[in-house]
Amino acid sequence: MKCWLILITVISTVQAKIQYKNLYGREPFGNSFVNMLSAAQGATLFALQGEEFMHAEPPDTTPNNRDQFDFIVVGAGTAGATIASRLSEIPQVRVLLIEAGRSENLVMDIPIIVNFLQFNNDINWKYRTEPSNGYCTAMTDKRCNWPRGRVMGGSSVLNYMIATRGHPKDYDRWAELGNEGWSWKDVLPYFKKLESFNINDYVSNQRVHNKNGPVSIEYPAFHTPLATAFLKAGEELGYPIIDYNSGNESVGFSYLQTTLKDGMRMSSSVAYLHPARFRKNLVVTKNSLVRKVLIDRDTKRAIGVEFVKRGRIFQVYASKEVILSAGAIGSPQILMLSGIGPTGHLQEMGVKPIVDLPVGDNLMDHIGCGALMFQVDQPVGMRFEDLANPMNPYIKDFFFERKGPLTIPGGCEALAFLDVDRPGDRDAYPNIELLFVSTSWASISVGRFDLGINDTVWQETYSKLENTFTWTVFPLLLRPKSRGKIRLRNADINSHPVITANYMDDKEDVRILVEGVRTAVNVSRTNAMKRFGSKVFLAELKGCKEFEMDSDGYWECVTRSITMNIYHYSGTCKMGPSGDPTAVVDPRLRVHGVKGLRVADASIMPEIISAHPNIPTYMIGEKLADMLKEDWGYPTKPQQ
Ligand SMILES: Cc1cc2nc3c(=O)[nH]c(=O)nc-3n(C[C@H](O)[C@H](O)[C@H](O)COP(=O)(O)OP(=O)(O)OC[C@H]3O[C@@H](n4cnc5c(N)ncnc54)[C@H](O)[C@@H]3O)c2cc1C
Ligand SMILES: *[C@@H]1O[C@H](CO)[C@@H](O)[C@H](O)[C@H]1NC(C)=O
Ligand SMILES: *[C@@H]1O[C@H](CO)[C@@H](O)[C@H](O)[C@H]1NC(C)=O
Ligand SMILES: *[C@@H]1O[C@H](CO)[C@@H](O)[C@H](O)[C@H]1NC(C)=O
Repeated sequence: MKCWLILITVISTVQAKIQYKNLYGREPFGNSFVNMLSAAQGATLFALQGEEFMHAEPPDTTPNNRDQFDFIVVGAGTAGATIASRLSEIPQVRVLLIEAGRSENLVMDIPIIVNFLQFNNDINWKYRTEPSNGYCTAMTDKRCNWPRGRVMGGSSVLNYMIATRGHPKDYDRWAELGNEGWSWKDVLPYFKKLESFNINDYVSNQRVHNKNGPVSIEYPAFHTPLATAFLKAGEELGYPIIDYNSGNESVGFSYLQTTLKDGMRMSSSVAYLHPARFRKNLVVTKNSLVRKVLIDRDTKRAIGVEFVKRGRIFQVYASKEVILSAGAIGSPQILMLSGIGPTGHLQEMGVKPIVDLPVGDNLMDHIGCGALMFQVDQPVGMRFEDLANPMNPYIKDFFFERKGPLTIPGGCEALAFLDVDRPGDRDAYPNIELLFVSTSWASISVGRFDLGINDTVWQETYSKLENTFTWTVFPLLLRPKSRGKIRLRNADINSHPVITANYMDDKEDVRILVEGVRTAVNVSRTNAMKRFGSKVFLAELKGCKEFEMDSDGYWECVTRSITMNIYHYSGTCKMGPSGDPTAVVDPRLRVHGVKGLRVADASIMPEIISAHPNIPTYMIGEKLADMLKEDWGYPTKPQQ
């Protein structure tokens, strides 16, 4: 017995002494010159693949002014691409898809690049919230950055590819609010239909997974030692490793399931529009900004839309229906500009009201402390200078085999879903997600521009972490009580709407957020994380000086200063039955009081789901496509 104990102690001491040289392990890399040559060759190969990719997207086709279609879909994002593709499966149905942005390219689909995509004015709407003293106070002008995709694929091209469905209770709650057809049991077939699930550990679970849908879901081809340790830390704390998309395992830790196909981003355009590119009945017009829905004032029926393309104004007509999928900012903006929204506000803006609805209310998002970083003493996390250095094998491994750390979406690698109030309960309804990242915006420094960190704060506080090894947890509040709103700035589609996020308005939100920080710090104190010398970075933020370091007040202040909002805007065209004064669309996503007009995107969520919304938004698109087919008497196709 004693012998065993000694042996185990010896083994663990030896293990603890293992020092990493790089992300791949203890050995130094081989010939750096050879690596560099291979990387250059790989880049050439990639350029050729990029050329091919451009031809795989449906071409840009400008319709004639006054052309008529059966359906017009506005926005080629997550939901819009799905809907246009599914509708055009019926050969006699003519579909027009209108997108404000340009084509997607293959560089955008390199997973590690995601941190840089937001800088590109060309594909990001670059919204910002109004200044606030309650959140994002350490950002430039006290405003949070709100990126949003403006490109074929929409935000599915800018996002971090994290694939989560949400908790069954989220959907049962939607149904409870009067939204018939949206319970977990009702939506599960669509979650299955949309996915091509490629994770060996769980693929045999056919009750919930499917191998033949358009959206590929897999693990990135590589995990850093830190991510592996994060899962071990979970086990140390008594949590299971789970398939968080299975519906029956909700509390636990996991590597991220991601919308990747063979190590590359899979956007909605790649998933749904590339396969539809030869369909004659699907017309896609890009660089086309929709200004409003055309509504017959007498019949209150949507008859078409008006859009601008290269300075020319087009009016196009829909003989059946118009579907807005312009996202949780775009859809309410277009509705209001079309006369559908809060009457008083529309009058103030000089828009003639047609239907009075609470458009733009009920704005929700997921946020957490944006500065919970942990320093480590070994090169086990990601640094920009290592990944971008062609003398390391990382670039070559990516170009030739789609392997290695460049397949990791911006450093996001794992998560935990936990209920901070019932830590021991496996069947709890998680109220916090710990999103694990094997770097930090301070380590890669350009990351601070994504958040918009104020220069003074950067210099004084966080610049000392630049190019060091760190990891981060964003403890995300899954079901915020606070609500924000979106309003028009003026009657011009080119003006960004007024966005009031109202984060942390509710005291209960703040309490759970701080508990989330505490839970993450506990994770850092496990043996698994300590092995790399993990140590929480306690920033001396000038704005938080009045609070004792590491107190609850301190963490609230840090969260209010560096508020990580993870771009899950939703709820602004809330779904609810007729008679619900807070609802904009009914459970079949028809705008209340208007005929021939539906909204289908993240804006219809009556309550934000307790997870990342991209996969749920695909589900919304799939479900709406079937509802349209049912309502117009076309056959629907079940899961392949
Ligand atoms: C940076 C970032 C990271 C994210 N990370 C994740 C993640 O890892 N996992 C996850 O699940 N979710 C993530 N999300 C959220 C997720 O991507 C979105 O919730 C989802 O894409 C929303 O889909 P949508 O169809 O509602 O809108 P979008 O995909 O945004 O599509 C709206 C489309 O409409 C177009 N449009 C808007 N207005 C007009 C107009 N007037 N005329 C013509 N076209 C217009 C836009 O250009 C856009 O293409 C992230 C989002 C962002 C921005
Ligand atoms: C940045 O923060 C400093 C102090 O923290 C403040 O004085 C300054 O106005 C801020 N700058 C901007 C552009 O917000
Ligand atoms: C969930 O279901 C799967 C497949 O049916 C099963 O393997 C797993 O053990 C279940 N998990 C729990 C927590 O019940
Ligand atoms: C963190 O760990 C401490 C010590 O084990 C424990 O008392 C505390 O409840 C934990 N906190 C959370 C939020 O899990």
